[in-house]
Amino acid sequence: MSAVDVSRTQVGIVGAGPAGLVLGHLLYLQGIESVILEGRDREYVEGRVRAGVLEQGTVDLLIEIGVGERLRREGLVHHGVELRFAGKGHRIPFDELTGGRGITIYGQQEVVKDLIAARIESGAPLLFGVEDVSPVGIESDSPLLRFRHEGQERELRCEVVAGCDGFHGVCRDAVPDGALRFRERVYPFAWLGILAEVEPSSDELIYCHHERGFALHSMRSPHLTRLYLQCEPDEAIESWTDERIWDELSARFASEGWSLKQGPIIEKGVTPMRSFVAEPMQYGRLFLAGDAVHIVPATGAKGLNLAVADVRVLADALARWFSRGDDSLLERYSEACLPRVWRAQHFAWWMTSMLHRMPDDRDGFMARLQLAQLEYVCSSRAAATSLAENYVALTDVPRATADQIV
Ligand code: APR
Ligand code: PHB
Repeated sequence: MSAVDVSRTQVGIVGAGPAGLVLGHLLYLQGIESVILEGRDREYVEGRVRAGVLEQGTVDLLIEIGVGERLRREGLVHHGVELRFAGKGHRIPFDELTGGRGITIYGQQEVVKDLIAARIESGAPLLFGVEDVSPVGIESDSPLLRFRHEGQERELRCEVVAGCDGFHGVCRDAVPDGALRFRERVYPFAWLGILAEVEPSSDELIYCHHERGFALHSMRSPHLTRLYLQCEPDEAIESWTDERIWDELSARFASEGWSLKQGPIIEKGVTPMRSFVAEPMQYGRLFLAGDAVHIVPATGAKGLNLAVADVRVLADALARWFSRGDDSLLERYSEACLPRVWRAQHFAWWMTSMLHRMPDDRDGFMARLQLAQLEYVCSSRAAATSLAENYVALTDVPRATADQIV
C-alpha cells in the first residue's frame, strides 16, 4: 500500500477497528477520500477475538454498505436471551417484547475481516504497522498526522482527523488538557473469556448470576462456543488451566437437566470492565469515535454497536460539510451521539451491577438485591420489556436528511 500517495487526504482516520473501517467505507461510498492508519498488522487485527452481538441497526448498515454478505449467511439470529439465577433459567423473549426485534451473533473480528476486504477491494489506502502516529495542529484548518511507516517518517495533511484508535489510542490525548471532561468507573472484576471448539450448549445466550461470580454462555457458530467467567481484575491467566476453567464454568452454570458441553480451548484472554465517556467527542478538527471516546462494560454487548452508531453520524455530517460547506451537522456531532452513548452506558452499568458478585458484599446484601431485581425482570412484563428494548436498541441512529437530523 505504501506506493499509494498518502501525503494528503480529506479525512485521516487513525485505527482500523470497526469504527475506523466503517467510517472509511461510508466516506468512500460518498466519494470522500480517506487514509486509514493502523498500528498493528493485518493478521493481528483480523485475529483479535472480541465481542459478537450486533444490533439490527448495525446489521442493516453493514448490509446497506455492501459488507453484509457473509454476515447474512453465517450470522446467527437470536430472538431472546436466558437469565439464569438460583440455578434456574428464565427466557426474555425479545421478539415478543419489542415487536419482532432480535440480535445477530457474528464475531467482531469477522466484521473487521469483511471491512478490510472491502477497503482493499476499493483501492482506498489502509496502512498497517504504522508507528508513532501523532495528530498535530488539530485546532487549525489543516491538521497533520505524523507517523512512521516501513522505517520512513511520513506526514499526512488532512482536512479532518477521525480518532478511531480505541481506548489506548493517541488521538484523545492530543486534545489540550481541560478541553474534554472524563467520567469513569473501573469495576473491581474482569472477565476471563474463552473460545472452545464445541457446539453451543444452548441455542441462546445465557447470562448467569451465581454466588461464585457471573458467567456468560455465547457462541460464534454451530461449532464454536464463547464463554466468559467473572475473575479478579488483575487475574493471572496462567493460573487458569483448561480443567479449572471448565470446572468453574460448570459450577456457575449448574442447573438441573442441563450440562455444559466441553471441547478444546483455542483462545483465552482477560477483559477489564470499565465505563468511560469523554465529552465532547470533538475538539477543533479532531472527531473521536468508538472506544477512543467511550467504553462500556461488555455485559450489555453495546461496544461495537456504539462505535458503528458514532461513525454513521460522523460520516453523514462530513458528507454534508464536504459537499456543501455546511458544518451544522459536524458542530452537532457530540450532541447527536451522546444521548445514545449515555443510554447504553446506563444499560451496561445496570446489567453489570445486577449480575456480578460484588467483592465487598460481606453480609450478602447486594446479592439479595440482585436476586430481587432478577426476579422482578423475569416476572414483570414491564421490567422484561425494559431489558429487551435496551438490549435490541429500539431507537435507530438519527440519519441526516436534506436539512436536519431526524
Ligand atoms: N496508531 C494507530 N492505530 C492505533 C493506535 C495508534 N496509536 N492505537 C490503537 N490503534 C488501533 C488498534 O490497533 C485498533 O485496531 O485502533 C484500533 C481501534 O479499534 P477498536 O479497539 O476495535 O475500537 P473501535 O473501532 O472503536 O471499536 C469498538 O471494539 O473494544 C471493542 O468492545 C469494543 O466492540 C467495541 C469495539
Ligand atoms: C460475546 O459473544 O462475545 C458476547 C456476548 C454478549 C455479551 C458480551 C460478549 O454481553
